[in-house]
Amino acid sequence: MKKIPNFIYGTAWKKEATTDLVELALQSGFRAIDTANQAKHYSEALVGETLQRSKIKREEIWLQSKFTSIDGQDHRLPYDPKADIATQVAQSFASSLQHLHTDYLDSYLLHGPYNHPLLGSEDFEVWQALEKIYLSGAAKMIGISNVNLKQMEMLFESAKIKPMFVQNRCYANRGWDKEVREFCLKNNIHYQGFSLLTANPQIVQSRVVTSLAIKYKTAAEQIIFRFSHQIGIIPLTGTSDENHMKADLNIFDFELLDEEMELITTL
Ligand SMILES: NC(=O)c1ccc[n+]([C@@H]2O[C@H](COP(=O)([O-])OP(=O)(O)OC[C@H]3O[C@@H](n4cnc5c(N)ncnc54)[C@H](OP(=O)(O)O)[C@@H]3O)[C@@H](O)[C@H]2O)c1
Repeated sequence: MKKIPNFIYGTAWKKEATTDLVELALQSGFRAIDTANQAKHYSEALVGETLQRSKIKREEIWLQSKFTSIDGQDHRLPYDPKADIATQVAQSFASSLQHLHTDYLDSYLLHGPYNHPLLGSEDFEVWQALEKIYLSGAAKMIGISNVNLKQMEMLFESAKIKPMFVQNRCYANRGWDKEVREFCLKNNIHYQGFSLLTANPQIVQSRVVTSLAIKYKTAAEQIIFRFSHQIGIIPLTGTSDENHMKADLNIFDFELLDEEMELITTL
């Protein structure tokens, strides 16, 4: 089993720039890549092209993709919309493997539940399809994205194969998704956080964070990523800037003190 990554490069919204940006991310040192078989927001095939062209071996790359339900797709569907859900998942997964020129994924996620605020029958159907893929060995880990605490409790309770990853948006004013994070921590589920910067501009620009950036000779953005790492989040970044890529990966060169962590938590 590969090591769980400590920083993930996200490939959403890059369109045709995906090729160059994934290449730049690999050159900058990222080895974990997040994508989805959702043409509306991701160019999964371009991620695959770049990985195939790169000289980095497949074993050195940690690769994650997602199954996206019809509600989250545009007309470019990676499955037959008339097929049952289990077939849609199988078709989407097979298409992801093809796009990514691989015979396995390190992690495969349900992009978001069909039902809110609780899970419904479609969600359990998808989960069973993910379990099947996991048991076949073609996805080394499985998980779910965009979930609330109740949904996690329901999934955890009923799943034969328990979720291994959650990928959620983190708002500072919700304790950086405290409820779900704590559930994950208690149940040995790895938590990936996105929109750490974009969902929290007031925290990034706060006096506390900017002063810490000066102290640690870094930028406010790295203070946020470092903070998230220290509370157990695996951060995602989708930066398009080479300097930001390198700076983001430098968060492992310093450590925030307990009282500094506390200051950020209370902002
Ligand atoms: N599961 C889901 O539903 C879902 C939803 C959203 C996102 N995601 C995943 O998460 C990834 C990241 O998305 P995100 O929402 O967190 O936004 P993002 O694409 O990472 O955008 C973050 C913004 O922060 C800036 N940034 C990043 N690092 C920086 C740094 N060191 N200094 C200054 N600015 C910096 C970027 O600007 P620059 O480009 O100028 O650096 C960009 O404007 C996506 O690509 C996707 O893989 C998943």
